[in-house]
Amino acid sequence: MSNYNIKHLEEYFKVYRKSVREPEVFWEEIAEEHFSWHKKWDKVLYWDFEKPEIKWYEGAKLNITENCIDRHLRMTGDKTAILFEPNNPDEGAQHISYRQLHERVNKFANVLKDNGVRKGDRVCIYLPMIPELAVSLLACARIGAIHSVVFAGFSSNALATRINDSDCKIVITSDGSYRGAKTIDLKGIVDVALEDCPGVHTVLVAERIHSDIKMKPGRDQWLQPLLDQASPECEPEIMDAEDPLFILYTSGSTGKPKGMVHTTAGYMVYTAYTFKNMFRYEEDDVYWCTADIGWITGHSYIVYGPLANGATTLMFEGVPSYPDYGRFWEIVEKHRVNQFYTAPTAIRALAKENLGYVEKYDLSSLKVIGSVGEPINEEAWHWYNDNVGKKKSPIVDTWWQTETGGIMISPIPYVTPTIPTYATLPFIGVQPALMDEKGEELKGNQVEGRLCIKYPWPSIARTIWGNHQRYKDTYFSAFAKKYFTGDGALRDATGYYRITGRVDDVIIVSGHNLGTAPIEDAINEHNAVAESAIVGFPHDIKGNALYGYVVLKEAGAARNPDNLRKEINQKITERIGPIAKLDKIQFATGLPKTRSGKIMRRILRKIAAKDFTNLGDTSTLLNPEIVQEIIDNAH
Ligand code: WTA
Repeated sequence: MSNYNIKHLEEYFKVYRKSVREPEVFWEEIAEEHFSWHKKWDKVLYWDFEKPEIKWYEGAKLNITENCIDRHLRMTGDKTAILFEPNNPDEGAQHISYRQLHERVNKFANVLKDNGVRKGDRVCIYLPMIPELAVSLLACARIGAIHSVVFAGFSSNALATRINDSDCKIVITSDGSYRGAKTIDLKGIVDVALEDCPGVHTVLVAERIHSDIKMKPGRDQWLQPLLDQASPECEPEIMDAEDPLFILYTSGSTGKPKGMVHTTAGYMVYTAYTFKNMFRYEEDDVYWCTADIGWITGHSYIVYGPLANGATTLMFEGVPSYPDYGRFWEIVEKHRVNQFYTAPTAIRALAKENLGYVEKYDLSSLKVIGSVGEPINEEAWHWYNDNVGKKKSPIVDTWWQTETGGIMISPIPYVTPTIPTYATLPFIGVQPALMDEKGEELKGNQVEGRLCIKYPWPSIARTIWGNHQRYKDTYFSAFAKKYFTGDGALRDATGYYRITGRVDDVIIVSGHNLGTAPIEDAINEHNAVAESAIVGFPHDIKGNALYGYVVLKEAGAARNPDNLRKEINQKITERIGPIAKLDKIQFATGLPKTRSGKIMRRILRKIAAKDFTNLGDTSTLLNPEIVQEIIDNAH
């Protein structure tokens, strides 16, 4: 019997030990007992991190949509699979049952086939958070096409690059999208992108905002009339375990975006197993992840992981601030949400607002609350714990990456005791290693180094689309025979992991390594501070000095800026030491952020270095206007 649902800490340790001692036996049992296969594998795992090449469940035959949809039909066909909450609350939610999802996916799959899409073809999806987005991913998977979702906040330029890199011949989009009080002309963005994409022959357009858009004859077609005519039956394509399921682009520290390739069986097994455990999902629960399906979090934990477990997964079209800052909590109350999974950047934004927005709603349905995407600072952790979790729902601080496919280091709720800012323990089967500068593994506890993983897990990305060499160089070359994450981490006296941030953000000041995250934590503890970012800038004596960009909760709080600067440095001195004090502190009304909420330190570094000329592409920022403000006020 495999342990699919871990209930106690001792059980976690027991299963973990088994997964390390006998990984193939362990992952064979999980795959065998909890999924449906057309044919079982010949070999559970083949791997070579030097080549690098990784294969899980080789020889197995399956279709992931049968696991995510068909097999739930008999017992729970009428259960809600997707619970859609629109941007405008007055529009009313939609409940899509497993049976309805089955029909919608099959029809969509038939439309794709009618438009010439075959197994192995790449399909670009550029849609807002509407049900068609989830349905289109599954429709591709149904017929063995490889989906490449591009987040619908990317510019036409970014979209074109991604379409061309993976040679997509078809694009699925909508006439537009709602974002709070605004509408966005998605089709217009696609039209501009396609001027640079001669390979695209078909554009399928979902109707969402009923705007007056231009349709290019011979290329563009409205989706709905095609769906209306399509058959609701579509035999699933039988796939090999290692056939690609999707490509998802992630930005590298340099160069063009990397198209990470995920394959079918291992990805399915790992996302399903982690979903079950990290959120302790139970039969009648309503689960909500606020991410966009355009990111890996949405792929793995809105679509595939939840559906593989027969869960009800909530999809939210809107933003946390519309119609007001209580929207998240209103949705939790309305749908009696049991698991809530969001990002620290959202938590900090909401924590800045009046507490009344949270207190107004009944959040008693919540059982587990999660965090993902960046290190969660201590202040945000406590705000989340106190005001959302009410100190009773455990916070799962889940560390993972686009490349890892699923959650790697995280507490298991009600199993692993949590500590603020700690992702705690590796999940079953995950073997982390911390490496020093010389490439030696740091053994034992109370060590800090570069975070690597030394053994494959089922959902590791297999390659970068069209560039295996770059895959090798980026992930398998820094440390021999190990996957390098690009993150730093420490392991405390009890074996708990704390992710300290990207190692490319480490700043060496007077020969001391300083992580930006702990300094920012210290600054954020100041009552007046909402958020901050630290970068290094060249300094004659120290090599590097620290430059801090600080966003205040209320702009007026900087009435006596020099005093505030002193207090901030005092906080840092208290928490880390005088070595970490900032040479320069600039107050700003916001920080440049990517659409997924990550601070664009590259730009801040340039500004700190007084290099205003070549800031690179700022068009993909959430708030490009902030850049000029920061330049104008730079020291
Ligand atoms: C960071 C998102 C600290 C980390 C799933 C990683 C985190 C990068 C956490 C991947 C966390 C993600 N604590 N840092 N809980 N989760 N990160 O590819 O630097 O968008 O390498 O995947 O986000 O971001 P990505």
